[in-house]
Amino acid sequence: MRTVYLNGEYVPENEAQVSIFDRGFLMADGVYEVTSVLGGKLIDFAGHAKRLERSLGELDIQKPAAFDDLLDIHRELVTRNDITDGMIYLQITRGAPDDRDFVYPDPETTKPTVVLFTQNKPGLADSPAAKVGIKVISIEDQRWARRDIKTVQLLYPSMAKMAAKAAGKDDAWMVEDGMVTEGSSNNAYIVKGNTIITRHLGNEILHGITRAAVLRFAREAQMTVEERSFTIAEAQEADEAFITSASTFVMPVVEIDDKQIGDGKPGSIAPRLREIYLDESRKVAI
Ligand code: PDD
Repeated sequence: MRTVYLNGEYVPENEAQVSIFDRGFLMADGVYEVTSVLGGKLIDFAGHAKRLERSLGELDIQKPAAFDDLLDIHRELVTRNDITDGMIYLQITRGAPDDRDFVYPDPETTKPTVVLFTQNKPGLADSPAAKVGIKVISIEDQRWARRDIKTVQLLYPSMAKMAAKAAGKDDAWMVEDGMVTEGSSNNAYIVKGNTIITRHLGNEILHGITRAAVLRFAREAQMTVEERSFTIAEAQEADEAFITSASTFVMPVVEIDDKQIGDGKPGSIAPRLREIYLDESRKVAI
């Protein structure tokens, strides 16, 4: 059984209890981060902590007292749960007032709820899917308009994944005003020649921590990066496509809406970026 962290305590997962009045439960009033663990070390922890701080600020959720201890808490959970490869899920909600109310509770009396748990995924970086690539469908992006904040409102992404599953595919890319925003839980890219194209940052997409690192490595490897939006039709004609996220790293996409990308196999750039990302990230993992 896992040991999880809840509001200052390490407890067995079946003993962790959160109030039914918690605003995360009633209103999805909370934010989260997923940090991967490779070889027992945290990948890109500083990036995740920084984005978490920003998400909290955008929603006026006070920083919990434990904020500065988050690195220690992550490491403690890795140790206690004996995680070599996997993920740490962290969630901070606005807390549990004593009744349901749309108005935010007084932060003096209602403190944020902080939850962290581990997900054990042996061989996370050796995923067989990375060798063959994944197939995606496109779906209208019907999420709210502040996707730059990493909130726990994940119903639409869940619906998108269910639509992909119903179609016999692996994931979905979301489209707004004819342009791809991002994947259901990842950022989306296409490749043309030596150029990597991915949507520019804004409120329409999550500012991926993996995205930032991968674009940096791509530029360092003399690839050209274009941050702009693209259509599904352009993606279907691209040489390659891929996604990035903390849990999939860099994952080739070989089919979009039943149309094969290139020869239907991962090309050369996405696998190369995956290798560079994994190598470089492991070097500086903490
Ligand atoms: N998802 N876009 C969306 C909508 C996401 O949910 C995620 C991450 C990303 C990639 O961000 P990053 O590189 O920082 O992981 C982009 C996480 C992994 C999840 O919900 O499980």
